[in-house]
Amino acid sequence: TMGHLLAFLLGLVFKATSVYGIPSCSADGQLAFYRFCNLTQVPQVPNTTTKLLLSFNYIRVVNATSFPLLDQLQFLELGTQNIPLTIEREAFRNLPNLLVLDIGNTKIQFLHTDAFQGLFNLVQLQLYYCHLSDSILKDGYFRNLSSLAILDLSRNEIENLQLHPSFGNLESLKSIDLSLNHISLICKRDLEVLQGKRFSLFNLASNNLYSKVSVNWKECMNPFKNMSFEILDVSSNGWTVDIVRDFCHAIQGTRISSLLLNYHIMGGGFGFHNLKEPDQDTFAALGMSSVIKMDISHGFIFSLNFHLFETLRELKVMNLSHNKVNKIANGAFYGLDNLQILNLSYNLLGELYQSDFAGLSKVAYIDLQRNHIGIIEKQTFKHLKNLQTLDLRDNAIKTVYFLPSVHTAFLSGNKLVHIEENINITAGFLDLAENRLANLNDLYILLQIPDLKFLILNKNRFSFCNQQYGPSKNHTLEQLYLSENMLQLIWEAGKCWDVFKRLSHLKILFLNNNYLNFLPPDVFSDLTALQILSLDGNKLISLSPGVLPENLRVLSLSQNHLLSPDPTVFASLSYLDITHNKYICECEARNFILWLNQTKVNMLGSPEDVYCTYPDSFSGVSLYSISTEGCDEEEALQFIHFSLFIFFTTTLTVFLTAVVTFTRFRGCCFLLWRKMFLTLALEYHPQGVKEDQHKYDAYLCFSSKDFEWVQNAFLNHLDSQYSPKNRFNLCFEERDFLPGEDHINNIRDAICNSKKTICIVTRHFLKDGWCIEAFNFAQSRYFSDLKDVLIMVVAGSLSQYQLMKYPPIRVFVQRQPYLKWPEDLQDVGWFLNKLSQRILNKKEEKKKSNNIPLQTVATIS
Ligand SMILES: *[C@@H]1O[C@H](CO)[C@@H](O)[C@H](O)[C@H]1NC(C)=O
Ligand SMILES: *[C@@H]1O[C@H](CO)[C@@H](O)[C@H](O)[C@H]1NC(C)=O
Ligand SMILES: *[C@@H]1O[C@H](CO)[C@@H](O)[C@H](O)[C@H]1NC(C)=O
Ligand SMILES: *[C@@H]1O[C@H](CO)[C@@H](O)[C@H](O)[C@H]1NC(C)=O
Ligand SMILES: *[C@@H]1O[C@H](CO)[C@@H](O)[C@H](O)[C@H]1NC(C)=O
Ligand SMILES: *[C@@H]1O[C@H](CO)[C@@H](O)[C@H](O)[C@H]1NC(C)=O
Ligand SMILES: *[C@@H]1O[C@H](CO)[C@@H](O)[C@H](O)[C@H]1NC(C)=O
Ligand SMILES: *[C@@H]1O[C@H](CO)[C@@H](O)[C@H](O)[C@H]1NC(C)=O
Ligand SMILES: *[C@@H]1O[C@H](CO)[C@@H](O)[C@H](O)[C@H]1NC(C)=O
Ligand SMILES: *[C@@H]1O[C@H](CO)[C@@H](O)[C@H](O)[C@H]1NC(C)=O
Repeated sequence: TMGHLLAFLLGLVFKATSVYGIPSCSADGQLAFYRFCNLTQVPQVPNTTTKLLLSFNYIRVVNATSFPLLDQLQFLELGTQNIPLTIEREAFRNLPNLLVLDIGNTKIQFLHTDAFQGLFNLVQLQLYYCHLSDSILKDGYFRNLSSLAILDLSRNEIENLQLHPSFGNLESLKSIDLSLNHISLICKRDLEVLQGKRFSLFNLASNNLYSKVSVNWKECMNPFKNMSFEILDVSSNGWTVDIVRDFCHAIQGTRISSLLLNYHIMGGGFGFHNLKEPDQDTFAALGMSSVIKMDISHGFIFSLNFHLFETLRELKVMNLSHNKVNKIANGAFYGLDNLQILNLSYNLLGELYQSDFAGLSKVAYIDLQRNHIGIIEKQTFKHLKNLQTLDLRDNAIKTVYFLPSVHTAFLSGNKLVHIEENINITAGFLDLAENRLANLNDLYILLQIPDLKFLILNKNRFSFCNQQYGPSKNHTLEQLYLSENMLQLIWEAGKCWDVFKRLSHLKILFLNNNYLNFLPPDVFSDLTALQILSLDGNKLISLSPGVLPENLRVLSLSQNHLLSPDPTVFASLSYLDITHNKYICECEARNFILWLNQTKVNMLGSPEDVYCTYPDSFSGVSLYSISTEGCDEEEALQFIHFSLFIFFTTTLTVFLTAVVTFTRFRGCCFLLWRKMFLTLALEYHPQGVKEDQHKYDAYLCFSSKDFEWVQNAFLNHLDSQYSPKNRFNLCFEERDFLPGEDHINNIRDAICNSKKTICIVTRHFLKDGWCIEAFNFAQSRYFSDLKDVLIMVVAGSLSQYQLMKYPPIRVFVQRQPYLKWPEDLQDVGWFLNKLSQRILNKKEEKKKSNNIPLQTVATIS
């Protein structure tokens, strides 16, 4: 499967990058890996170590002599000790080149104010969840850390931000994480030392900031005065509409590229009216902050009010997902002249109106997945000239008339039942998976869309095809996904075999899980660019040579019913998955087994998953562990000799007499018969021949090379002219065909004028074009007038695979069981009995006959 392929490629990547490839509690020169080693002090490691991992130990104290001089060390992980940790003065001074120090998730019992002194090169300091209090900021721990850029103090016990003056000298400081502390108020005076700084991240999330105290903003003033932020995270602070409005007002003018306000409690939610919805005032003051991205997801906003965002003219990305948005007021998005991405996913929108997105002249991406949208006004998206991607996954949309020309449209998980024929759009990528499309004609319609490159139709209900379009023109499609449909139902009805015609650019095709038990001839013949084909999870028994496109590189046939594949079919592939099939481990699989052992094709999946299913004694055994020794190429005819040996003596005389007799009289018989039926049969109107008008009980069709054996095995025991004890009036070429008549007419006559046609399928039969033709013709009566006239008897050691190579035989075998000439002579009587029943059985379709077993047929042994 593709899964195997991915796992395989990922495996390579993983092996190349795994850093912990050394045993625990040891060092390999660069990496010293000492996690979970019950250490109570720092171990001796080589002075070449660059990365030292000491988490999950019992180190109680580190002081200035704990670490030997390790001037190559860049990364030290000391956090997550199992006991509280004391860090003494200049504990890390022997690590002058340390870049990253991680002490997170450890209870720090005592921290000397000079603990970090000497770490001039330290870039990143992780002190999350260390039970630290206000003093960590107040007491100058970070003096002289002139390279420090990233300081993580999240999940501590900090309540007040009183910053030591030395923060003003931390020229490199870019990112402070103070989330998950208890900072309920920050005012201008608290952050004065940070003025003039630009932060890439300032994280104040989850502090109950401003929400647990009443703030006098006049006094407090702008805490972020003269600072600027790439990301200011004030999410999860329980902010209401009023808090947001006051905050925005207070920080007026502070530049913030990305403002995270998500996990708020603005809005009334669904069914409540007592809580305030944000309005025109709420975000108005942000207009001077040049906000480019704003996240107000995860809240309770029910209605997007009039001119809600009107001042946010520089905003490019807005995330309103996971609210309760159900109403979009007129002009709600007015002013968002530069908005490019609008995320309204996971809301409660039920219908979309033409006016909803008015004003979003530059919007390129609208995400509306996971709403309840059922109806969309036709022009809703069509006037958004820059729209490239429209995501409407998992809604309740029934038709696609509203679809604008976009590059990418996601419509999976809706309720589409058909595609409008006049859908006049261009699109590059269409995801229509998990809908209710049932008529494969929809695919022909979609293939009229110019420029389409990716089309996903997995998990629909394609099961019939009222084809109204021909195959597309030279189409641009490159990837087509049709997994988990019911293409078998379509193709077995003989419909739409040309569905992949002219897709000369197609590179990837997924047809897995479609119940396929055959592939229509030439179905892939135009796919000259196809590289990856998945046929997983179907019911394919064999693949005929030539069915695969020549440039195919990756083929997945896992979980099919392959019995004994012809290895030449796979020869030109690079990757192949043939796990979990129903291999027959008999001699006819010899070539396949030998091929498996030495092929250069990369096999995906584990060798254990390529196992035998038959015979029972080999069930579950890997094909890779089976020996083909002792398999003789021509063992096939053995049984015939064996049978002949038994019959020979008893039947020789009868046979000779019979041949002489009937050769003499055949002319008369046939002239008579010809007069009666020939005209009828030539034009072949099967309805014209009534049951009781049949001249013969059965036409016995076999290769003339098998004549002697057939005579011994069948004619002697069934045909009434061979013995008066026999009750059937049989027809066969050697006796009953009209000399001089066209052979094919003879065959048709024989079939039309017999109640049944028995094909004795042997190796000779398969090599005889006339026999196959006769088989095909008899079979066709089943399809043309539902008369099941064909009985197939397989004799000799023909494998299912050899049979399946012949399309008419394949069709028969998939339709019903066939009889097999018994290997054990004791069973011959039983077999002939069963065959007789089949001849007598006047089964119309679906009617089960309960004929009594024939007593008159002689048993042989
Ligand atoms: C650490 O100590 C525990 C408990 O005594 C023991 O089970 C474990 O094997 C020790 N681990 C190492 C790496 O010595
Ligand atoms: C590392 O230690 C070895 C001896 O163990 C010594 O020869 C070498 O000079 C030391 N390298 C440095 C850079 O200190
Ligand atoms: C560091 O601690 C060890 C024991 O943990 C002690 O023997 C040593 O004297 C201490 N060194 C300093 C400089 O305090
Ligand atoms: C560290 O900072 C202190 C005061 O902030 C200063 O007196 C001292 O000189 C600095 N040390 C170094 C090595 O720069
Ligand atoms: C911002 O802060 C810097 C450094 O503290 C200072 O030089 C500058 O004058 C301040 N600008 C304003 C507008 O306050
Ligand atoms: C909000 O949407 C933006 C863009 O649409 C996305 O990058 C971001 O991850 C989303 N935030 C959350 C919390 O989902
Ligand atoms: C929109 O937000 C949802 C949920 O937060 C997220 O999964 C999705 O990726 C976002 N869409 C875009 C386009 O970023
Ligand atoms: C298809 O749409 C284009 C413009 O988008 C228009 O010019 C053309 O007439 C339309 N064709 C049909 C058949 O509606
Ligand atoms: C199909 O279109 C491509 C360009 O899109 C062109 O190069 C190629 O010759 C065309 N093939 C046929 C058979 O028209
Ligand atoms: C597979 O090939 C190896 C040598 O390449 C040979 O030793 C082994 O017997 C072969 N196995 C089978 C089942 O043919």
